[in-house]
Amino acid sequence: MQSQLATQLLPDSFLEKDWERNFRFLESFSTLDHKSYFSLEDAESIFRFAGPVSEVRCLMAFRGKIVKLDSLLDGPRAFRVEKIMRHFKGGATLRPTNVHERSERIRALASRLTAETGSIARVNAYLTPSRSYAFKPHADPYNVVVYQLRGRKRWKIWSRRADRPLEGEHPEIDADSLGEPEREFDLEPGQAIYIPRGLAHAASALYNEPSIHLTIGLHAPLWLSVAHDALAACADRDGFLREFAPVAGQVAMDRDTAFETLGRVLGSVQLEDLDESLRRHEELRQSMIAAKEDSLADAEAVQSLNLDSEVGDARSRIHGMDFEDDYLSLNLGHRNLKLQPSLRKAAEFVWKTERFEVSSIPELPGGERSKLLFARYLLNNGALGV
Ligand SMILES: [Fe+2]
Repeated sequence: MQSQLATQLLPDSFLEKDWERNFRFLESFSTLDHKSYFSLEDAESIFRFAGPVSEVRCLMAFRGKIVKLDSLLDGPRAFRVEKIMRHFKGGATLRPTNVHERSERIRALASRLTAETGSIARVNAYLTPSRSYAFKPHADPYNVVVYQLRGRKRWKIWSRRADRPLEGEHPEIDADSLGEPEREFDLEPGQAIYIPRGLAHAASALYNEPSIHLTIGLHAPLWLSVAHDALAACADRDGFLREFAPVAGQVAMDRDTAFETLGRVLGSVQLEDLDESLRRHEELRQSMIAAKEDSLADAEAVQSLNLDSEVGDARSRIHGMDFEDDYLSLNLGHRNLKLQPSLRKAAEFVWKTERFEVSSIPELPGGERSKLLFARYLLNNGALGV
């Protein structure tokens, strides 16, 4: 895996000519072992084990409609995993968010793309059952790399571009007004494409097999966020920015005075505030680049794991364990892996036992299959070795 990721994934010609401009196929992804990145079992293990539920931020969507999260929760602390899987079998797309926080392998990929583009890579997985789709034609507010792992998806790319949508906006685009797509193709396992911010697109799983792909969003700071962070830094120094702005109701200033005051607010930003704003972004970017490639789980071992497999070595990988009300936190050195609080006994066993067979993990709700998924989850996250 280390050697796979040692090569540059985005060619210089792409970064010079196409970045933020043109749709393009990214051939270099074909050198990666696509099957090892994510599976339906990995999605299921996130819903079974990751905590707290409020941080998992999963999303299900069925033909343009979002499934309400409340209906997928079993109280505030756990997902109704069986119900999620039933929805999936019924045609709904399962989208676990931020999967780079749940897999060292995906984290290493995100880290590589962060280093190569300067934008912060965040990864969502899309699992779409056969003959279904999640969203209608839309545009995304950031540059995106789509990496197909299993199954196939039919993509349509139009030449229409939404004008620089902001984070949080994914404008739907009326399919009738779009006309014929500029491109239409099937994305096969191992293939990857780049879709620049704002470009209209849609994808559906047309075939008799589910489709799994990773969407890697590449998030760059906008002038808007640079300005916001610089003003926030300025407000740390300058009490004036922390005053209420009397711009509404009975106490409102007249328009001219408000405009003049706004000018004073904006003009109070100093060079040091810009430095502080850029420093915050750089800190975030560096934390993303700091993936620990040497702790990548052996992909083959994860795929062939069974109840008789011997695993271990958690003692040297997990530096400590904290128990909170809502979650259990394993300190992996470079990051914390948060788990459901109900996994305490099982996690303690794993941590304290030098080597053991997967079937001997105690007190896991959900029986033998759960043991297998739990071991797989810990392996994926580098908390356990083979
Ligand atoms: Fe999209």
